[in-house]
Amino acid sequence: MANFQTVEVTTDLLIVGGGMAACGAALEASYWGKKNGVKVTLVDKAVPDRSGAVAMGLSAINQYINYGKGVNSLEDYVRYVRQDLMGVSREDLVYNIARHVDGTVHLFEKWGLPIWTDENGNYVNEGRWQLMINGESYKVIVSEAAKNAMKDAGNEIFERVFIIGPIMSSDGSRVAGAYGFSTREEKFYIFKAKAVMCAMGGAVHVFKPRSTGEGLGRSWYPPFNSGSSTYFEIMAGAELTCQEIRFIPVRFKDAYGPVGAWFLLFKSRAISAGGGEYMAVRKAELNNWAPYGLAKPIPANLRNYLGMLDVEAGLGPLYMETHEAIANLAKQYEGDPKAFKKKMKELESEAWEDFLDMTISQAILWASMNIAPEEKHSEIAACEPYFIGSHSGGSGGWVSGPPDLKGKGKLLDEYFWGGVGNMTTVPGLFAAGDATGASSHKFSSGSFAEGRYTGKQAVKWILEHNSLPACETAGLKEKALAPIELYEKNKGFSTDDDYNPNYLKPFMFMFRLQKLMDEYAGGVVSGFKTSKALCERGLELLEFLKEDAEKLGAANVYDLERCWENTHRMWQAEAHIRTILFREETRWPGYYFRADTPKMDNQNWLCFVNAKYDSKAAQWSMRKVPIGPICD
Ligand code: FAD
Ligand code: ADX
Repeated sequence: MANFQTVEVTTDLLIVGGGMAACGAALEASYWGKKNGVKVTLVDKAVPDRSGAVAMGLSAINQYINYGKGVNSLEDYVRYVRQDLMGVSREDLVYNIARHVDGTVHLFEKWGLPIWTDENGNYVNEGRWQLMINGESYKVIVSEAAKNAMKDAGNEIFERVFIIGPIMSSDGSRVAGAYGFSTREEKFYIFKAKAVMCAMGGAVHVFKPRSTGEGLGRSWYPPFNSGSSTYFEIMAGAELTCQEIRFIPVRFKDAYGPVGAWFLLFKSRAISAGGGEYMAVRKAELNNWAPYGLAKPIPANLRNYLGMLDVEAGLGPLYMETHEAIANLAKQYEGDPKAFKKKMKELESEAWEDFLDMTISQAILWASMNIAPEEKHSEIAACEPYFIGSHSGGSGGWVSGPPDLKGKGKLLDEYFWGGVGNMTTVPGLFAAGDATGASSHKFSSGSFAEGRYTGKQAVKWILEHNSLPACETAGLKEKALAPIELYEKNKGFSTDDDYNPNYLKPFMFMFRLQKLMDEYAGGVVSGFKTSKALCERGLELLEFLKEDAEKLGAANVYDLERCWENTHRMWQAEAHIRTILFREETRWPGYYFRADTPKMDNQNWLCFVNAKYDSKAAQWSMRKVPIGPICD
């Protein structure tokens, strides 16, 4: 530890994270900051060009309203999200993102992102809300714009600096910065700021992935995001919401290729080997989840659930009927062999590009398994659970609504505070993207748009609270580097570096967390089912794990990053189990099933569940918050 240099940075607005939301915030805050003398600093544990969920690229922009031309209204989108989340969404937040997202998509195009267009120059929609893109370089394009804006305003970006947690003001009244360390050099960082925007994405590897051993780490959600947003918000004392709404995507099996283009663009059917088209055969099950089960589109969790019922009944595997879908699309050209051949080539290349743009490994898997999508179907399967509130999950921070929407529809006054939007319940701590809850279906474009909005709001707040709060940073360096210190003291005590009676390596720790979550909190092995008793036992075991987190050992900065990632995951896990335990119903079968309360209970549980941690008292508190819609 003696070798670690301490670097102190003072700024006005600190953006932690370098993903879609953070890039949006950097762009907008640089603009408003430059006009108003507000300095902005961004810190990413990786490099924004290829960091976060969009690192590998994407094949679709999943949120585009197209309301300028009157195709859809903002209310249409609000109703869509309400329906998909089984009634649970903050409609002020969803509406706010929706009204800003189209302009953001137009900017992406201006910066060079190729969006598919048809022969009339109109965007090609995948589904009602999704646009097809050639998106391998999506993140590079977006981050270039953010970096240029930062540079133009004289702002600074720190790459490869891992943020551990918040620094609070001495009087505890607001956030005062963040601390972390370099993942390349022996440097410890203190960032002091007037306001902080938290945008460190969601979490993966909290649950045991389906692939272990030789396939370890293979998961739908890229492994870079590890619950840092949740940990940051918990430790700042911010209220969290919807921590029970994990996301389980159904994906092409083992390499996690996206299914959206197959279902929506190619109009493919999914079947089980033994049961036929589960969405049709099991339709009656949807009555049990009315009104959401009976309206369209059928919520993602219910679509999952019907497939899972077939698998549970031993009717699997599940298949995406790619060959049938391609044949159907090419059918109308059958009379003209030349046109038919051309159409088949086009469909084939679209099918491969869908994977090559965002999930290259799926294309490799197809090639290695001799799969030609026009010839035979491919297996699909439900993944393990993830935390990604910007997608079809809901977890994140509880943030203030946009002030101008107060009083609209039946929105509750309690959604609004601080005179600004997207601020957590901690003054000066803002959030966007996966770090904000109850505002699902914002995806890449909506996260960027929300980031832009939040960056501007944060600058506004700084101008109204323009002082650097006093704060206490003693002890933070020791805490951050404790795993290195412990390892240094005890290495050599055993013959194998990985096994030592005095420390625990981060991988071992992660396996324990994943086993616990898998078995007690409804992971793959328990068929996504849990109960009060299982959650309570899971929490007991988590307490032991927490004790052992003090014994994490790190041989170097790489290990140190893994140690903190896993500590972050552990806290994300706790927030999740506690919220599932509190909500005494099953609302999202297909994501998780509370076997002891197997029905949806709209009378008592059509509400948000919020969680908060008091770090001084080491106590969690939970509360219900009513849902106030913005429109009918
Ligand atoms: P991210 O973009 O993931 O960014 C998180 C950032 O935080 C990264 O820069 C990361 O390096 C940084 N970070 C994490 N921890 C720390 C730490 N401790 N310290 C410092 N920095 C940290 N959307 C679409 O529109 N279309 C799609 O086709 C689509 N497909 C998707 C496919 C997959 C597999 C996934 C996972 C998501 C997909 N999405 C898609 C959704 C979209 O990627 C997300 O909604 C969006 O990226 C969320 O933005 P964010 O800024 O919250 O998080
Ligand atoms: S992605 O994150 O990998 O791009 P995916 O390809 O599953 O996700 O879905 C893209 C979009 O299509 C999302 O908005 C999702 O909600 C929607 N979607 C996927 N499958 C269906 C379906 N069967 N019905 C309605 N919407 C769907």
